[in-house]
Amino acid sequence: MAGKNTRIVAVANEKGGVGKTSMVINLGAALSRKGQDVLIVDMDPQHNATSGLGVEIDDDAISIYDLISEPGVHNPLDAVCRTEWKGLSVIPSHSDLSGAEIELVDEEGCENRLKDVLADLIGEYDVILIDTPPSLSLLTINVFACAGEVLVPCQTQPYAYRALEELFDTIDAIKEEINPGIVIAGVVPTFFDQRTRISTDILERLQSDERYSRYVIDTPIRINTAIAASADVGKPVVFYRKSCNGALDYQALADAFIGQRVKAQLVLN
Ligand SMILES: Nc1ncnc2c1ncn2[C@@H]1O[C@H](COP(=O)(O)OP(=O)(O)OP(=O)(O)O)[C@@H](O)[C@H]1O
Ligand SMILES: [Mg+2]
Repeated sequence: MAGKNTRIVAVANEKGGVGKTSMVINLGAALSRKGQDVLIVDMDPQHNATSGLGVEIDDDAISIYDLISEPGVHNPLDAVCRTEWKGLSVIPSHSDLSGAEIELVDEEGCENRLKDVLADLIGEYDVILIDTPPSLSLLTINVFACAGEVLVPCQTQPYAYRALEELFDTIDAIKEEINPGIVIAGVVPTFFDQRTRISTDILERLQSDERYSRYVIDTPIRINTAIAASADVGKPVVFYRKSCNGALDYQALADAFIGQRVKAQLVLN
């Protein structure tokens, strides 16, 4: 199976509740439905991506916390949990991960722990999608240090729109200091509600703002209660209710995401 050209994608936004975890779960699931081999890495101590994929972890399971806090002790492949859906696996998180910040901060190369872990998995998957916590913590820096691309969910609400500037500054700083090759794969408008003026207004502002417009993916994720309901029962929405708006939007995002790679390869060739 090895030998795939793995895309490592961080789903990040320091702002909370903008749809990061939902994007990791549902884009991952939509990509797996299209035949891609997807690994989700849950780097958030809240472990919502793990539970949203219906994965229950017992106490002796190896979590991402074990992999980054004890380098070399575990084989990262032993931490991979298969979900019930073909081509969709997860390295689970654990609430202990919240302590990793304090434990690792004085250790040399602490920002590259995740990069070292994923080095063993490159070539095994088409896509590694990484969920991040809503803060610029050492955990998020570890994710930015190893990602080739960043996908940015942005809620179509004023505070989220305003917070984008800070996130773009953060990514610029990461590019300068830690990971020069990182690129923004897209800004994805989320919680879009065309019935409300503020949501359509923010979408238009995102699409016309010269700082962001070239990154904005033109398939927003609409507000859809099935997305929250599917997370509650530990199922990606594309498997929970295949024809609801949430499922359709994530399938469209998966098409755009795969299309980007095709475009990039055409340019390279
Ligand atoms: N398009 C949507 N429509 C309706 N509800 C949604 C949508 N996307 C996400 N949700 C719900 O909104 C809540 C917040 O989403 P999510 O957990 O994905 O955000 P997050 O950015 O990961 O949050 P955090 O910053 O806390 O990690 C969740 O209950 C989720 O199920
Ligand atoms: Mg989250």
